[in-house]
Amino acid sequence: LEIDPFIAALPKVELHVHIEGTLTPALRWKLAHRNNISLPYKTYDELANSYKVTYNHRREVNGDNGAPTFLEAYFAGCQVLCTEDDFYELAMDYFKKAHEMNVRYVEPFFDTQAHTRRGIPAEAVLNGYLRAQQESVGKYSVRSNWIFCFLRDEALEDGLDAYRAALPWARTRDGKGKGLFHAVGLASNEYNRPPLLFEEAFRLAKEDGLHITMHCDVDQKDAVEHMHEAIFDICDGAGTERIDHGLNAIDREGLIPGLKSRGIGLTLCPHAYHRRQATEVLFPKIRRLWDEGVKICINSDDPTYMHNVWIDGNMMKVYKYCGFTKADMVTLVRNAVEISWADEGTKTEIL
Ligand code: HPA
Ligand code: ZN
Repeated sequence: LEIDPFIAALPKVELHVHIEGTLTPALRWKLAHRNNISLPYKTYDELANSYKVTYNHRREVNGDNGAPTFLEAYFAGCQVLCTEDDFYELAMDYFKKAHEMNVRYVEPFFDTQAHTRRGIPAEAVLNGYLRAQQESVGKYSVRSNWIFCFLRDEALEDGLDAYRAALPWARTRDGKGKGLFHAVGLASNEYNRPPLLFEEAFRLAKEDGLHITMHCDVDQKDAVEHMHEAIFDICDGAGTERIDHGLNAIDREGLIPGLKSRGIGLTLCPHAYHRRQATEVLFPKIRRLWDEGVKICINSDDPTYMHNVWIDGNMMKVYKYCGFTKADMVTLVRNAVEISWADEGTKTEIL
């Protein structure tokens, strides 16, 4: 899908991108050699081919055709990330790409558990991303505030340990943190892992003055129940400020009014869904959320693991298939600014 010059030139904001999901085969190849990590691929082409993943997190749903699931490929990619410089380079690669696409402001997700469970010190991850956050402003004119993700298929206690270790890098209420992240999220495999399992973690983050978002991925088992919990139950319905994905809001009465009355926006990633849903099925759903007045914005999720479709390609898809006007596309970016957690000064600078 060719990017229309209007979409290319539009200043953009990205609120749903996993930094580890922007790892290119090229950087992965380079880091594997630099860190002496043997890859299960003999050639660069074989490595690049491993990015062709199946959509569902559970193999049995796809039928086991030998292709890795998305999460298998994503966590396999993480294995080459070892030193502070590696994390820095990963993030700077993304910021460079963001700059080329006229992305002005980003709230990237990051995992520390994906790395500490391989024996990488959390400081390497956090300091690498912190340095990139600081340098990207001058070098690429891209500002960012990051989001710490709990891995929902790991134990709550594990997540709490990771969170406590990362807290000195947060922008907490007391103003003492290093300012890398200002929010927490919930990611990884949603199967039988409803948001309420992590309520304690969300309460803690809220007390620390951090913002809260959580994934309610599309068409997962119990998707509408998970959305209901996220909107109405977490911190007595005063917890989550955004939902990542959340397309299933249209499937149960009461969810859309819940989103609207609480001002909960949805960070949609159309290409991720388009891999599985037909054009004429998917885009009317996005259009309906828009017509109902839900604050939606458009993002890329894990672009290198999703056919290299970045935020511009995702915006192109809704421009083309939802029948949005140019003014609507500007409104989508304004929605992102509005539901972002940038400070007021940054918000006015972005657009
Ligand atoms: N889904 C769930 N968890 C994730 C993803 C995703 O697409 N990317 C990184 N963690
Ligand atoms: Zn995501």
